[in-house]
Amino acid sequence: APGAQDYVPDSHVLTRLAEAAQQCHGCDLYLDAEQTVFGAGSRKARIVFVGEQPGDQEDRAGKPFVGPAGKMFDKALAAADIPRESAYVTNAVKHFKFTRSERGKQRIHKKPGRTEIVACRPWLIAELESVQPDVVVCLGATAAQTILGRTFRLTSHRGEVFDLSTDGDLPALSVSPQVTATIHPSAILRGPPQDRDAAFAAFVEDLRTAAALVG
Ligand code: URA
Ligand code: SF4
Repeated sequence: APGAQDYVPDSHVLTRLAEAAQQCHGCDLYLDAEQTVFGAGSRKARIVFVGEQPGDQEDRAGKPFVGPAGKMFDKALAAADIPRESAYVTNAVKHFKFTRSERGKQRIHKKPGRTEIVACRPWLIAELESVQPDVVVCLGATAAQTILGRTFRLTSHRGEVFDLSTDGDLPALSVSPQVTATIHPSAILRGPPQDRDAAFAAFVEDLRTAAALVG
């Protein structure tokens, strides 16, 4: 089966993982994207945030959550009193998946498929084994289904706390952080403007609750 496992070095050193990930051909997404967008942040983070996949701006910058969703995420972290540099932020899938707009100017985000999610998962596992966080926060359904299993439903299990040693869908994980899931920050941007303040407040509340699990 295709997958990142052939490219993941036998190392828990985050910088070595990040370096090796630049060479990953574990699925076809590397073909059209600019670069691998590996996780970023503190290697001593107690809390890890997992998004879906890099977007257009992340693909150009080589860093996760720096575009519009990243700005919203930063705003929510600040409101929840979580310094972003104290956390580790990554994505379920490390390459940008997109289609081109009709005239080819814009790159339009495409949801990653199960094949790409499973192919890329060895990187996420390696990141979690390296950082060994207390808490993992899944931002949106893709991250949640990557970690908690494909049948996970955000609408019914948002904010619940799971134990990866019993509830997880990650094979061979040697650490067992508590895992919780909330919405993706881009859902706030995409939602109806009149709902935005309430959606933002609820998201901040979820981040606060997750941060309180650290310890
Ligand atoms: N959306 C994500 O899920 N991750 C990013 O890094 C940017 C946007
Ligand atoms: Fe490798 Fe993941 Fe990129 Fe696919 S998306 S090439 S598995 S890093």
